[in-house]
Amino acid sequence: MLMTLIEDFKAIKANDPAAKNWVETLLCHTPYHAIVIHRIAHFLNDLRIPVIPRFISVLGRFWAGVEIHPGAKIGRKFFIDHGTGVVIGETAEIGEGCVLFHGVTLGGTGHHSGKRHPTLGNNVLIGTSATLLGPIKVGNNVLIGAETVIINRDVPNDCTVVGAPGVIVKRDGKKVNEKLPPAHYTVDEEASPQKQSTPPGD
Ligand SMILES: CC(C)(COP(=O)(O)OP(=O)(O)OC[C@H]1O[C@@H](n2cnc3c(N)ncnc32)[C@H](O)[C@@H]1OP(=O)(O)O)[C@@H](O)C(=O)NCCC(=O)NCCS
Repeated sequence: MLMTLIEDFKAIKANDPAAKNWVETLLCHTPYHAIVIHRIAHFLNDLRIPVIPRFISVLGRFWAGVEIHPGAKIGRKFFIDHGTGVVIGETAEIGEGCVLFHGVTLGGTGHHSGKRHPTLGNNVLIGTSATLLGPIKVGNNVLIGAETVIINRDVPNDCTVVGAPGVIVKRDGKKVNEKLPPAHYTVDEEASPQKQSTPPGD
């Protein structure tokens, strides 16, 4: 865990031009504190320790305004800028080298049980106040613009998605205007007559 925390810290330097003094960054970068708190809570959650992981995650919310469920799986070199209002649900999965700005939601729609939050690939950047809902898959090397909304749609590799609802405006560096494909789970669910509903929280 220590190595991961060091890599998360280095990700601040790589992504935030305002981070000049490492002591100041360590003391004052509250989204980093939230990530440290999450790594501890997730470790305890994996050990199936009851209550305490959730309580620790509440401390992160109070301190940094970042709400990450202890069950969320987050890869190395994770960076959150500003932090306030970020919400990451229990079954969300985040690859390596991802960047989230304040106000990003990786949430559920309330129509799924089990896996119900997004999965991000590696090197995904999500701009401020973007909302991604459902057990969708976002590919590698994806940019999602500020205020973008993606619900029940997958995002392919190597593209930029903007707008509400989100559309692909760049793919492999070339300008395009493409709709996002329906999420894979939707196709699976349509084949299954049993659709379950859960509350949108957690
Ligand atoms: C999407 C983003 C990552 C840029 O990605 P990019 O691949 O470099 O895309 P471009 O800048 O070339 O923009 C492509 C098109 O999308 C448009 N666009 C970019 N971001 C957009 C957004 N958030 N909403 C709507 N349209 C957007 C651009 O105007 C451009 O349109 P055009 O082709 O008609 O000129 C960036 O615009 C963004 O939103 N970053 C988030 C940063 C953030 O949240 N900062 C908060 C700091 S406090």
